[in-house]
Amino acid sequence: MNVSDSERVATVLSRDGFEMTDDEASADVVIFNTCSVREKAEHKLYTRVGHIRHAERKKPVVGVMGCVAQLEGETLFKKIEGVDFVLGTRAVGRVSSAVNVTLGGVSGYIDVGEREDDYDWTVADTHRHSPYVAFLPIIEGCNKFCTYCIVPFSRGRERSLPASEIVRQVLDLRQKGVREIHLIGQNVNSYKPETDAGLENFVGKSPFSRLLRAVSATGIERIKFTTSFPRDFHEDIVEAIEEHENLCNWVHLPVQSGSNRVLKLMKRGHTIERYLKQVDRIKASNRDIALTTDIIVGFPGETEADFLDTVKMVEYCGFDMAYIFKYSPRPNTPAFEMIDSVSAAEKTLRFLELEKTQKYIQNNVLQRYLNQSLKVLVEGKSARDHNVLTGHSTCHKVVNFHGESSLLGEIVEVNITNVKPNSLFGEVAL
Ligand code: 5AD
Ligand code: SF4
Repeated sequence: MNVSDSERVATVLSRDGFEMTDDEASADVVIFNTCSVREKAEHKLYTRVGHIRHAERKKPVVGVMGCVAQLEGETLFKKIEGVDFVLGTRAVGRVSSAVNVTLGGVSGYIDVGEREDDYDWTVADTHRHSPYVAFLPIIEGCNKFCTYCIVPFSRGRERSLPASEIVRQVLDLRQKGVREIHLIGQNVNSYKPETDAGLENFVGKSPFSRLLRAVSATGIERIKFTTSFPRDFHEDIVEAIEEHENLCNWVHLPVQSGSNRVLKLMKRGHTIERYLKQVDRIKASNRDIALTTDIIVGFPGETEADFLDTVKMVEYCGFDMAYIFKYSPRPNTPAFEMIDSVSAAEKTLRFLELEKTQKYIQNNVLQRYLNQSLKVLVEGKSARDHNVLTGHSTCHKVVNFHGESSLLGEIVEVNITNVKPNSLFGEVAL
């Protein structure tokens, strides 16, 4: 979501006559897009602004956008010396005003207001991270209020984009040469537009599965979606994937914990039994769907027995990849009031143990791709070796292989010859 917001801001600024630069040292304006999901992410902002303030050059205008901006508002000016303007999560469409006012000499400009009525949801066109892949937000905000999470406060309530607008954008992006779109949202499968417009001709047990079928019908080559919320993850989503080749075989379904007691304390709204049933259904699919997840260790009150339930769950699920986090208390969330009972040292131990378990399992799980051929969208050259091309498979694996630049933007068959910890390596199939 943050990448998508940054792309949007760059697009808006360019439209309004600003020029983007990759060279921070020569920039007149530097805008930091921020995350506040964990404390560590917040600290990065303090360090980066500090670097700019102490650099031996004319100080650029410094703006802060994103979740930290939204939550801290006015107090950011006091907390961090050197910040000139603050732009909230729903104010990105007004970024040019913030920059212009500040360049005009006003300091301490702040906009943490709601979206403008005529906010342009059109996907960033000129400043996407890839010419071939586009992130398309279909729902913003979150109504779930998991007890540890700051997102409902930083991103506000759920609001879905009309399906007709999503379909229009996908058709437009397709015409412009985009081959893969990611439907994105904090909980994509909670998608619930105000009207049925655009979904009338599509079946499905939830608006989201109907949307998947509607987007599939645009004929765009690849559709991925993230993140899915377990409570709203109906079997119908898997059925849609099975019916339509262009709905990619990858599901990101954050479980957070393997213990029902902890899941309850987290107010996740799902039990582990229900989650495992969903996993069984995904794994039983004839599409060989890759499954990834998020897990938090060291939640307040998590006992050794709870943690072992998480390890067991990880062993059972055989995730293709798991993002593992140490619990980080976030002010004003319900969990912040709970006693942070797991010591920092214990959190680290649990993190390392779970990481070890996942790595071992992951390697076994990924071996299934060895000697298989995968269809890879070639997105760029490897940063480490310019003779190596890199891209993603339909199951969202990073796949690297030797190849010519002429393959950029193409979808090629790659035979997998080597499994690395977080990626696959292969050769173009002849
Ligand atoms: N501490 C640690 N991890 C968190 N996440 C969200 N809030 C916190 C927190 N307070 C993790 C969850 C979520 C992912 C995006 O970040 O696992 O799925
Ligand atoms: Fe946070 Fe829970 Fe919403 Fe995900 S579903 S963004 S973890 S509150």
